[in-house]
Amino acid sequence: MCGIIAYSGNRSATPILLNGLRKLEYRGYDSAGIAIHSDNTIHIYKQEGKVENLVQSLGNYEEDPTHEAGHVGIAHTRWATHGPPTTANAHPHGAGQDGVNRIALVHNGIIENYRDLKLKLEGEGCVFLSDTDSEVLSFLIDSHYKDDLAKAVSAALKEVQGTFGIACLAKAEPHKMVVARRGSPIVIGLGEDETIVASDASAIISHTRQVIYLDDNDVAIIEGGKVDIRTLDARPVKRETSDIDWSEDAAEKGGYDHYMLKEIYEQPTAIRNSIRGRVDLDKGTAVLAGLGLEPREIVDIQRLLIIGCGTSMNAGLVGEYATEDFAGMLSEVEQAAEFRYRNPIVGSKDMVVAISQSGETADTLAAVREAQEKGALVAGLVNVVGSTIARETGRGIYLHAGPEISVASTKAFTCQVSVLLMIALKFARSRRLSREAGIQIAKEIHRLPELVEEVLKQNDHIAKIAEDFTNYTSMFYIGRGYLFPVALEGALKIKEISYIHAEAYHAAELKHGPIALLEESMPVVALLNEGPGKEKTLGNVEECRARKSPVLGVITEGDEDAKANCDWYIEVPKSPQYTATITSTVALQLFSYHVARLKGCPIDQPRNLAKSVTVE
Ligand code: AGP
Ligand code: GLU
Repeated sequence: MCGIIAYSGNRSATPILLNGLRKLEYRGYDSAGIAIHSDNTIHIYKQEGKVENLVQSLGNYEEDPTHEAGHVGIAHTRWATHGPPTTANAHPHGAGQDGVNRIALVHNGIIENYRDLKLKLEGEGCVFLSDTDSEVLSFLIDSHYKDDLAKAVSAALKEVQGTFGIACLAKAEPHKMVVARRGSPIVIGLGEDETIVASDASAIISHTRQVIYLDDNDVAIIEGGKVDIRTLDARPVKRETSDIDWSEDAAEKGGYDHYMLKEIYEQPTAIRNSIRGRVDLDKGTAVLAGLGLEPREIVDIQRLLIIGCGTSMNAGLVGEYATEDFAGMLSEVEQAAEFRYRNPIVGSKDMVVAISQSGETADTLAAVREAQEKGALVAGLVNVVGSTIARETGRGIYLHAGPEISVASTKAFTCQVSVLLMIALKFARSRRLSREAGIQIAKEIHRLPELVEEVLKQNDHIAKIAEDFTNYTSMFYIGRGYLFPVALEGALKIKEISYIHAEAYHAAELKHGPIALLEESMPVVALLNEGPGKEKTLGNVEECRARKSPVLGVITEGDEDAKANCDWYIEVPKSPQYTATITSTVALQLFSYHVARLKGCPIDQPRNLAKSVTVE
């Protein structure tokens, strides 16, 4: 789940690996380590806690001959799944005998059958030093090792169930590293006489833009600038080389205190990039070539099934409302893990849209494969170019939001919603929606970047409101219709980064139970944008206030009625509710950000979270 960086070339590996680890810090992790090959020995260094702890523990490594001479190395930031976040459990994991490492391995993912393998290996005399599943894989590779690391890796991987992205070294092959993947991404960066491998491109971009994305069950043998990719059965395969199309700056903080704030502020540009060339203001429709569908094929689709997790699923809910609203077409959203395991009823008349910022989320990927197996048309709505979901769906729409580094997703959500509105518009125009009505919706989508700019101007006002919220421990978020997913997303964001317990409810549902919790210490955030259901939600707000719960309203600019009913309010520009989903979410992103900032929380790396969740 976490970060891998590996290097083979003619420079000292250690500084490159440490810088790479710093670039991967955003993904959320609990310990870090490196292994370098130097003086015919594999040297392993690891530490629990931050990368800086590891750097400190290495002392003056720049002048240390061992580090100077180590031109091949692997490194890792761990997000613990098996065993606590201790130094012993940190990666790399060595395997060998008498304290000599014959193999070293870093691993992202989970080895599901590690217990059986461990028992077998212990029976053969292996002594394990950690609680991890990964160390078992390291010993398994060692047990197969004769004189060829790639062969040993392939043999071991055939015995393994689960997910992995790995990089490993062998003591007897000093210039070589072998990397492989199944379900967890590995990107190979091609340099001049050197190769940098990572679990995501942000750790590579300062070295090269030319990359190869490994496919599942690929094994790559790397020596300096030479990359040889094979299947598990040692059949040579060719994988395309692609160019990373964003700059290094895009993955830097650029003067902001946190990536999250930077990404919140990037939203006008990100949405502009998402909708560029895709909104047809003249025909009142959307141009979505990536879907690869003719109007006749679109008419044949009877149901739009949207799958995703977390924020991506919340965006999907807006898509469901819009598809039904604009196109009068059946649409459903399902949590991706649930979709896979409940034997869903899907077929050739369904289009499944898989939403994923990273394109690597294991639950979503598994659901994509299940939907394909059942004969549905599957499209990806993905941000990371070349990611697994993007490649496996083969059709879809890239968000073009630029790299999203903060664990808490912000610009991906607003771009996902923008694209989903365009999909709904496209489907609607292929059905009953008139050109005039289509033009109206297209115009509203087109003006989204400006609307978001207006919301961002309220930053100071929102920061002031946030000051009153730092001592609350629990909150409710309520909304109806289009605004219900906004409540879900608002509550998710405040939970993730400020650790305040927050629950989102449909505004009408409050009185069916949760209202029992309302009291002075339980504030309610109410989504009150003008449009259908607003009056009813205002009624619910009155019910909350009658029980002494203070209310923060997100309201339409100038709505005096709503203002009078709230203890605090944030105004967003007047717009239909389907685009107010975006403006209101941006207001709540800023709100969560400031509450977390004032509470001193580690905003970009919230505890226990990882940026891309590649385990089920
Ligand atoms: C959002 O803030 C989250 N950290 C998380 O819910 C995320 O949206 C989810 O894990 C799905 O990720 P994906 O979009 O990369 O598939
Ligand atoms: N399952 C492994 C462990 O717990 C790898 C975790 C990761 O992906 O960082 O060590």
